[in-house]
Amino acid sequence: RDSLRALGANIGLRIGTAVNTDQLGSNAAYADITAGQFSTVTPENVMKWQLVEPAQGTYDWAAADRLVAFAEANHQLVRGHTLVWHSQLPDWLTASAPSMSPDQLREILRKHVTDEVTHFKGKIWQWDVVNEAFNDDGTLRNSIWLQKLGPGYIADAFRWAHQADPQAKLFYNDYNIEYTGPKSNAVYALVKNLQAQGVPIDGVGFQTHLDTRYPLPDLRNNLQRFADLGLDVAETEVDVRTTLPVTATEQSAQVAAYSQTLQACMAVKQCISYTVWGFGDAYSWVPGVFQGEGAASIYDENLQPKPEYYALQQDLELA
Ligand code: G3I
Repeated sequence: RDSLRALGANIGLRIGTAVNTDQLGSNAAYADITAGQFSTVTPENVMKWQLVEPAQGTYDWAAADRLVAFAEANHQLVRGHTLVWHSQLPDWLTASAPSMSPDQLREILRKHVTDEVTHFKGKIWQWDVVNEAFNDDGTLRNSIWLQKLGPGYIADAFRWAHQADPQAKLFYNDYNIEYTGPKSNAVYALVKNLQAQGVPIDGVGFQTHLDTRYPLPDLRNNLQRFADLGLDVAETEVDVRTTLPVTATEQSAQVAAYSQTLQACMAVKQCISYTVWGFGDAYSWVPGVFQGEGAASIYDENLQPKPEYYALQQDLELA
């Protein structure tokens, strides 16, 4: 049977994965699946500020450059992840930011966005320019960016990124916006507001970190209302965790969740990519964060495809 990437290509849909670059460099089976099954890659960590600027003014692009080279060699596009976030900031910045003036901090953020986008200019398909700026109740997250720069940091980041690489598609990316409700409505309002100001935003990324304990989101209608604003949309970090050990009932719920999230994307013309947040249960972020949960991926601990994988394959075949 055909790979996910080949089946996706038949219908003009990119199928992607987050990539753990340590595994990519050391694990041949992992690299084979990355190249064989996916037509876009997202660095799981190595483009984050903490990793690219470990000491102020000292850039380390090596791991991210290797991933970009791997993608080029394998005819894959790259989702850049992520420029402005409250998490995984370098220690030097976390230590010094609280005592900086707003102008000093804005200049540091401007330089970061400009330097990183410039470094990868022409090599990034979609940038997650701003990541996770909202709380679940729809208020803006009280990050160092909001505290010091006010809500305008979001528009600024998009403008700086666009100046540095006018070809890249610029995304706002968040979780728990698959569901309609206060958070999704707040992102919708933000995007309309940015558009009204002429801010260069091209798309919204719906992370789609799901859990079988919660109902499935009405993703299709929600993607469509954002697409109707003239935006691209994408599912950017799909995984479906559950409590361990996995029962047959839970696994069917996981299979159904993968299938429905893909079908939602396939049903919306402007949904341009469907990306899983890694593909092997052994490498997933989930067990480290949600105690007692896991098995969230489409491949098992031994990199064997699970029913979740075959469900995606079948949905693409039937498209
Ligand atoms: O690299 C260090 C290593 O040197 C050190 O020994 C080890 C000890 O903790 O930590 C390693 O860093 C870890 C890093 O992953 C690389 O493995 C960090 O502790 C760990 O916190 C970090 O987790 C990442 C997490 O983002 C951080 O918030 C996950 O891998 C990554 O999957 C996750 O991805 C996020 C997206 O960026 C945004 N959306 C949510 C998603 C899941 O949380």
